[in-house]
Amino acid sequence: MSVAIPVNLEIEYHEKRGRSPVDRHGRPAQKNAVKDDKKKKKRRWCIIIILIIIIIILATLGGVFGSRAAKSSSSVTTSSNTTVSNEAPIVTFTVQPTVAPVTLPGTTYLTTRTATVTFTTTPTPTPASTTATPSATPLSPALQSCLTQFQLSAPSNPLSYPCGTCASLVATLPNDLAPGFVASPTDPNTGGVSAGQLLQFCSLQTVFLASANSSSGSVNPLTSVGWMNNADPCSGWSGVTCDSTGRVTQLLMTFPAVPQTLSEGSMSGMVGMQMLQITGNGLVPTGSIPQSLLQLSNLVTLHLQTTGLAALPDNAFDALKALQQLTLAGNSNLGKTLPSSVTELPLTSLIVNGQDLQTDLTALLTSSAAFVTSLQTLDLSGNSLSSSLPSTLSAFTSLTDLNLSSNNLSSLPSMLPSSLKVLDMHQNSELKGTLPSQVCTMGLQSCDFKDTAVTASSCGVCMFGAS
Ligand SMILES: *[C@@H]1O[C@H](CO)[C@@H](O)[C@H](O)[C@H]1NC(C)=O
Ligand SMILES: *[C@@H]1O[C@H](CO)[C@@H](O)[C@H](O)[C@H]1NC(C)=O
Ligand SMILES: *[C@@H]1O[C@H](CO)[C@@H](O)[C@H](O)[C@H]1NC(C)=O
Ligand SMILES: *[C@@H]1O[C@H](CO)[C@@H](O)[C@H](O)[C@H]1NC(C)=O
Repeated sequence: MSVAIPVNLEIEYHEKRGRSPVDRHGRPAQKNAVKDDKKKKKRRWCIIIILIIIIIILATLGGVFGSRAAKSSSSVTTSSNTTVSNEAPIVTFTVQPTVAPVTLPGTTYLTTRTATVTFTTTPTPTPASTTATPSATPLSPALQSCLTQFQLSAPSNPLSYPCGTCASLVATLPNDLAPGFVASPTDPNTGGVSAGQLLQFCSLQTVFLASANSSSGSVNPLTSVGWMNNADPCSGWSGVTCDSTGRVTQLLMTFPAVPQTLSEGSMSGMVGMQMLQITGNGLVPTGSIPQSLLQLSNLVTLHLQTTGLAALPDNAFDALKALQQLTLAGNSNLGKTLPSSVTELPLTSLIVNGQDLQTDLTALLTSSAAFVTSLQTLDLSGNSLSSSLPSTLSAFTSLTDLNLSSNNLSSLPSMLPSSLKVLDMHQNSELKGTLPSQVCTMGLQSCDFKDTAVTASSCGVCMFGAS
């Protein structure tokens, strides 16, 4: 078991132009010849010294390789059936220096010396597959092709990139943009293509394709705001904001540049999204809210306005652990109740208006809600909320803005949070009774009780009567 690694060392000397055995004037260059002889001797010595140095280096390397082979052999025998001898490595060098001065016609004089060093070592170095570092899993040809095409053709022709077949294949790779991603030596070698970037692009390609209005035959409205000129959404696509690592962190879309529907694929690659805002025209986007949107664990702000989107399931908010601002404004198809899981969110702002909501306020404003001490803004105006405001409202100790205008509320609790700055209860025609005395003295900046059955002659900044 021995392997010879031939190492060819070529050392070339280039003399200054014009230094040839025959001088420029064609006379035999006697003096030069003597000088050259001395130089040749010097060079020979130089070369011998260089060769000795090289041999020392190679011998050192041989020792290193040999000891590595010896080391790995013991670990190899335990991990597989390959048996590698534990004999000490034998390192042999054969050095064959040849000196071949070459004289080229013209003005250039070259001397080439070739030294052939044959490096032999025993035992055989262990094969690469059994080295200590775990090797990367090989990629399927289809997956490899998806990665290559994304690098080569997608930048110039983003719309023809086959996300339909590639997104699901690439989704099996570790997503380098996912929160908390840590590269591992066993990760497949993607040749420098970011799986996260590819999936993010494919999500936006899905959004783009869904925003084309098939009935009008006009240009896709997202084209005019800079989408799909290339495969990099962070290069100035309007409404797209990225962080320094190329994650899309914000997506803001306003009619007509919105998709007609939100399919699963339209959000599945947006792992870094912190803010999603879609403002439709009352009809589009339509259909259901995709599960992939409800899995955006980094999402802090969700703003859906005047869409035609359909009701959310009761557990809709289970995975949106980071959501702080939830705004659902004027979405007439979103249902009459809020998913009960909304109380699991650490919200600072809850705005659900213009939705014909009939949610039970006692269940929503429970003192066990995750947002009981974080909620600053509560706007449930323009709904169909009835009955009374629960007394638990006083437990919402950070609440500064309360807007319950244009509902059908019947009474106020005896105490309101003392943090309140803005109170809007106007247009609740059934609202009657006396105001908690605290309301008039708590230093409100604005207070509206117009179009209610509550009357008072004077109460701080509060306004009463018909508007
Ligand atoms: C190693 O050899 C044993 C016995 O010959 C065999 O049962 C086992 O499957 C082998 N393991 C590998 C990894 O080849
Ligand atoms: C699609 O085009 C039709 C006809 O031009 C128009 O009435 C409709 O509002 C458009 N819908 C969207 C979502 O752009
Ligand atoms: C309360 O909500 C209504 C309707 O959504 C709005 O018109 C009004 O300006 C809001 N009040 C305050 C004080 O913001
Ligand atoms: C408002 O509530 C009262 C009962 O409190 C009910 O009679 C009335 O129909 C409700 N109005 C609307 C518009 O829901």
